[in-house]
Amino acid sequence: MSNRPHRVLGPLGFILMMSWPILALSQEVPGNPQNGKILFEKHCVQCHGEKGAGDGPDTKFLTVRPANFHSLESRSKTDWELMTVITFGAAFSPMHGWSDRLTEDERWDVLRYIRLLAPFNPVAQLPVSPERHG
Ligand code: HEC
Repeated sequence: MSNRPHRVLGPLGFILMMSWPILALSQEVPGNPQNGKILFEKHCVQCHGEKGAGDGPDTKFLTVRPANFHSLESRSKTDWELMTVITFGAAFSPMHGWSDRLTEDERWDVLRYIRLLAPFNPVAQLPVSPERHG
């Protein structure tokens, strides 16, 4: 490919090419958190707790502690990683998959609600370097 992409693509193509990350980032994320809240309170709250801190009333019967969605570990996981657990469950844990009880849309809804409680933070696990301010 030429090192002058605007010659090959034309000015409009060049602008589109340079702006795709902005277009990709501004795209709406799937899932409706209002419906997710209803589903969460019906199916998940007994283990994950009202605020998603992994402290629901059923935890006293569990040997594996439910995930705390506010932990750096959970917050730095991508939507796809969490969706995989919601869909298929986590091996050797009381977290079973929900693909038989929730539709794909409902699973996105509930994930969107979890992200509202504890927003995605991709750099949560990176050490803070002293050079960076803010
Ligand atoms: C019976 C208790 C229980 C119920 C009910 C439950 N979970 Fe879980 N969940 C767990 C446990 C325990 C883990 C941790 C699994 C592990 O670490 O192996 C977990 C892990 C998760 C994770 C992975 C978090 C991470 O950081 O990897 C997600 C996402 C999740 N649950 C979502 C849900 C959703 C959504 C529902 C309701 C539709 C739900 N859970 C219902 C017990 C439960």
